[in-house]
Amino acid sequence: MSGPKDAEPGLAGWRRSHNNGELTPAAAGNTVTLMGWVHRRRDHGNLIFIDLRDRFGVTQVVLDPAVDADAHRLGNELRNEFCVAVKGKVNARPQGMINASLATGGIEVQVLELKILNRSEVLPFSVNQDEKVEATETHRLKYRYIDMRRPAIRDKILGRIKFVRAMRKALESEGFLDIETPFLYKSTPEGAREFLVPSRVHPGNFYALPQSPQLFKQVLMISGFDRYYQVVKCFRDEDLRADRQPEFTQVDIEMSFVQQEQILETMERVITGAVAEFRGTPKQGPIERRTFADVMEDFGVDKPDLRFGLTLQNLTETVKGAGFKVFAEAVSTGGIVNAIVIPDGPNSEFWTRKEIDALTEVARNIGMKGLAYAKKKAGSGVDSWQSSIAKFLDGGMIDAINAKLGLKDGDLVFFGAGPYDQTKAQLGALRNHLGAKLKLYDPTELKFLWVLDFPLLEKDEDSGQWKARHHPFTSPLPQDMQYIDSDPGRVRAAAYDLVLNGYEVAGGSVRIHDPNMQMAQFKRLGLSAEAAQAKFGFLLEALTFGAPPHGGMAFGLDRLVMCLLGTDAIRDVIPFPKTQKATDLMTDAPAPVPPENLRDLHIRVHMPTL
Ligand code: AMO
Ligand code: AMP
Repeated sequence: MSGPKDAEPGLAGWRRSHNNGELTPAAAGNTVTLMGWVHRRRDHGNLIFIDLRDRFGVTQVVLDPAVDADAHRLGNELRNEFCVAVKGKVNARPQGMINASLATGGIEVQVLELKILNRSEVLPFSVNQDEKVEATETHRLKYRYIDMRRPAIRDKILGRIKFVRAMRKALESEGFLDIETPFLYKSTPEGAREFLVPSRVHPGNFYALPQSPQLFKQVLMISGFDRYYQVVKCFRDEDLRADRQPEFTQVDIEMSFVQQEQILETMERVITGAVAEFRGTPKQGPIERRTFADVMEDFGVDKPDLRFGLTLQNLTETVKGAGFKVFAEAVSTGGIVNAIVIPDGPNSEFWTRKEIDALTEVARNIGMKGLAYAKKKAGSGVDSWQSSIAKFLDGGMIDAINAKLGLKDGDLVFFGAGPYDQTKAQLGALRNHLGAKLKLYDPTELKFLWVLDFPLLEKDEDSGQWKARHHPFTSPLPQDMQYIDSDPGRVRAAAYDLVLNGYEVAGGSVRIHDPNMQMAQFKRLGLSAEAAQAKFGFLLEALTFGAPPHGGMAFGLDRLVMCLLGTDAIRDVIPFPKTQKATDLMTDAPAPVPPENLRDLHIRVHMPTL
């Protein structure tokens, strides 16, 4: 006696003819074999309808006892996420039964034979509610393979793949060569902390996982490969944020015999070409360019979201001599007073006292001491403001502020006062909050921006030592070299970032290709000649063998895809992401290892006493 059909092992005699996203009425009358998961099962008395799902789509299959009683009986056993195969006949659906929201909505498959390939336990969370999931993120990450069955996440992963393909195509068409670089390499800190890998063969020695292939790609230029790219994992042991992962992916690029302008033009063709290909829209451009100094002044952050206005307005000169102590103190200590104006309009009703208090709380969380505000009314002088601070200012100054800001009746102004960097950064964060809160932009819009002329150096707050703002291999702008000794903070770098919707999605620079200049730069960064040799000797030596002028950049693939797909969760676009605490909940990494493994690696673990 033969056992039930689903007991037969494997796919003997079964071969898939189509996927679940491709059948149309043109196939009516054909016999097909489909495989996939039971996405949904509906029992209509005699008939059982199954939505059969795979990564390509969903096809409705029908089990009718009048057609095949065995299959129908087995159909009663089906539950969500059973993995099944069906053989059946394609029927065009009659007019009126067509499901226009489904690519395969014009047909259904009348099942002639059903095979259960594998049963499924009840899932920890449902996959067939598309966007709405009632699982915590912890649960979703533990069962990532199930989460990726959800069409919403699956489509993000598929989107990532599609975009990588578009990037590769754009890069290949510009003559870039895909060259691999090692993961086990020498510890050469670029800024973030590194992940170290102990060597078994060389006791007490360590490899580091690269923060980026920076030095290898420069060496590849010295080898003469001319143009390099790689879609590559990078590793950084740094504090995680919403847009940061400890391992993330760069589309890493380097090119020879170029200056900054040529790099920017090439990268712009690559990214606009890839985005156009990805979205199926015409190529956009040119991408707006602004200097670092300008974006800090206008937006308070080096990665402004240009999809909305609310620029920071400078009032420092206007409020000089003001009686209000918050303004007076800022001005007298060399700081600034800035304002954000929310024009009267559809959002005006929103600004009740309660909402202003809530925003003040947001400002405090951002680190501001307070949030002075004024609402412009008709009239002039003190009468023209409904404000927390009108009583501290005289009419003349209020009129001057109204004029400087071009205020119209109904406009609302928020003020920030204090040291330049801090106040700009705080108002910049407040601006981003307002943009999102007031929904001032279309979430599907893509707004790229080049930020240029970054400072070459910045002071380490703890040690007071100059450090490279981008990395130590970045070339200064030649016209600023005159200040390198007298006023190093004033020297700008041939470095640039690409910003998209408020995220830094790429960064790069022209490199130093002169060994003496590179040595001098290491010295400026506090590295002795010996330390520079020990860490970067191979680069310094390579630069002595006819290194070509070169430069490049790296796109943060995860962030780019996140913006392109309109999500603000980097974890959504990474197949196997890590938590904010850098753990992998599916495999339970990191984890202790047996003592003998540690012994092999010559490692003794010193557990912190709690
Ligand atoms: P940079 O350090 O600016 O430059 O990195 C390039 C881009 O990578 C992305 N990125 C990250 N994405 C997710 N998680 C992280 N932890 C993370 N860190 C960086 C950002 C960033 O713009 N070697 C140089 C490039 C060069 O000079 O050519 C580099 O790595 O989008
Ligand atoms: P105070 O005199 O501290 O009560 O502040 C008067 C008003 O100024 C209040 O509305 C505060 O929220 C606001 N304020 C205080 N410090 C700042 C600051 N640094 N920037 C902007 N507004 C402030």
